[in-house]
Amino acid sequence: MSGSHTIGVIRGDGTGPEVVNEALKVMESVREGFEVALVEFDLGAERYLRTGETLPDDELARMRTCDAILLGAVGDPRVKPGVLERDLLLRARFQLDQYVNLRPVVRYPGVKTLVPSHSEEDVNFVVVRENSEGLYSGAGGFHRKGTEHEVAVQESINTRHGVERIVRYAFDLARTRRRKLTLVHKTNVLTFAGDLYQRVVDEVGAADYADVETDYVHVDAACIYFLDWPARFDVIVTDNMFGDIITDLGAMIQGGMGIAAGGNINPIGVSMFEPIGGTAPDHTGKGTINPLAAIGAAEMLLRQLGETDAAARIDRGIRVATQKMASMRAGEMGMSTSEVGDLVVEGAAR
Ligand code: IPM
Ligand code: MN
Repeated sequence: MSGSHTIGVIRGDGTGPEVVNEALKVMESVREGFEVALVEFDLGAERYLRTGETLPDDELARMRTCDAILLGAVGDPRVKPGVLERDLLLRARFQLDQYVNLRPVVRYPGVKTLVPSHSEEDVNFVVVRENSEGLYSGAGGFHRKGTEHEVAVQESINTRHGVERIVRYAFDLARTRRRKLTLVHKTNVLTFAGDLYQRVVDEVGAADYADVETDYVHVDAACIYFLDWPARFDVIVTDNMFGDIITDLGAMIQGGMGIAAGGNINPIGVSMFEPIGGTAPDHTGKGTINPLAAIGAAEMLLRQLGETDAAARIDRGIRVATQKMASMRAGEMGMSTSEVGDLVVEGAAR
């Protein structure tokens, strides 16, 4: 694609600004044949502590005018847990209807993980996490709160429409890869939600994706396979909560949160890309945080915008960097945050 892309930038809190700097530096280095206009957003804990605002409507409206958004990280020990998560991050995902949470699980060359027996070929799959409903819908409530007879209900909302669109997205993705789609759920216990997912996979698969092989794995067994036989996976489709949990395990078999990138995708709207890890307060301002997850998020962003050549160059750059770094862990990389960025730039050069 050519032309100009308007990219929203939420640097956020903690180490967010440092990793976003490196991602933008890398993006600029591979920019060829297209323009980028950056639109800055002042969102996160600092703004909240200053003004009490998390994601005001006018900022949301500005987000809608972007072609894509790059997010560093939001959060701060001074803010009550849940506020920024729910009112900023989840609100953005829901309001922009970013119904796909796309999380590649890729083992880059030279990366040591907690599972030394894994080879690079073993760990190369994608988790397609439903991102707009399930247990994240916020449905439920308290009865008799604070009493001995308190009841807390947290409902998992699963709509046919919501399940079908995520399943179709996953099938389409599988078609661009090894043509294998695995449903991960807990159908032996969650007999309503799991049943809906299974039926949709079966029906949609038979009707429109006969060329894609499908299978099913319980979420607990999937955790075993991540460690024991990750090569069995190509594309996984799963619900919001299970997807949240298994992608942290997925990050660990990639080499840690420092290199795990993800995208909150609305295929016909504005998508938002982010490193999966948090704000890492212990590393803030020290130049010790690993920027590769944010750089990977920038790669995904460019791919989503159709800039596949620039994205492929970033991938090449990341693969050069991982072979030269001592570790993927913050503070143990054997080099600084910006030196990692420099290595990616070098590796991505023509
Ligand atoms: C993630 C995070 C979020 C989630 C939190 C911060 C709300 O854990 O992106 O995986 O649960 O989706
Ligand atoms: Mn998570």
